[in-house]
Amino acid sequence: MSEASEYSAVETLRNGRPVEIRALRPDDRVGLIAAVERASAQSLFRRFFAAKRGFTEKEIAFFVNIDFINHVALVAVVDEDGHPVIVGGARYIVGQPGTAEVAFAVVDEHQGQGIGTALMRHLAAIARRAGLNELVAEVLPDNGPMLKVFENSGFHLTKKRTSEVVHIALQLS
Ligand SMILES: CC(C)(COP(=O)(O)OP(=O)(O)OC[C@H]1O[C@@H](n2cnc3c(N)ncnc32)[C@H](O)[C@@H]1OP(=O)(O)O)[C@@H](O)C(=O)NCCC(=O)NCCS
Repeated sequence: MSEASEYSAVETLRNGRPVEIRALRPDDRVGLIAAVERASAQSLFRRFFAAKRGFTEKEIAFFVNIDFINHVALVAVVDEDGHPVIVGGARYIVGQPGTAEVAFAVVDEHQGQGIGTALMRHLAAIARRAGLNELVAEVLPDNGPMLKVFENSGFHLTKKRTSEVVHIALQLS
């Protein structure tokens, strides 16, 4: 485990409310599943490229068992009715040395408040500290919000479009 496993930062959203961006913890399993259950079919399709209704035990284990070296996961937590609730998450998985694939999701009713942008900023900071040079992603061509998060990241961006997806590469160094 690295210090990324203890990561925590607080940001202010566009609506003026705070969001905590922190490392996913082993006890987040229930909160993570609850967040996925709140997401719309369109958001799940944009995240998983398939119509997803539920996840197998194996998939859930993959999402929550994070080594914080080759697989880093952050969650976004806001207060809902006095309780901290996971409303988004982002992760990277190292593939080739120096390069990691990223993926994001924010529950629909909290989209457009800056959570995706904040997750991007913190995930990139962790990736740079870990010595990664590049973050890559595959995005559906009509996924404007995700493309905007990458474009607004401030890193040099390369886009390659095929008929089905846009391949994104962000240079971190
Ligand atoms: C992509 C996603 C993570 C972005 O998260 P978010 O919290 O909405 O992002 P932000 O609030 O930081 O907004 C990013 C940009 O998208 C825009 N945006 C967000 N939601 C939008 C919406 N529903 N319609 C139009 N624009 C939207 C914002 O205005 C912002 O652009 P700006 O900074 O130029 O104003 C979120 O929309 C999501 O979970 N989508 C479904 C899953 C997904 O697509 N995953 C990507 C797979 S890699």
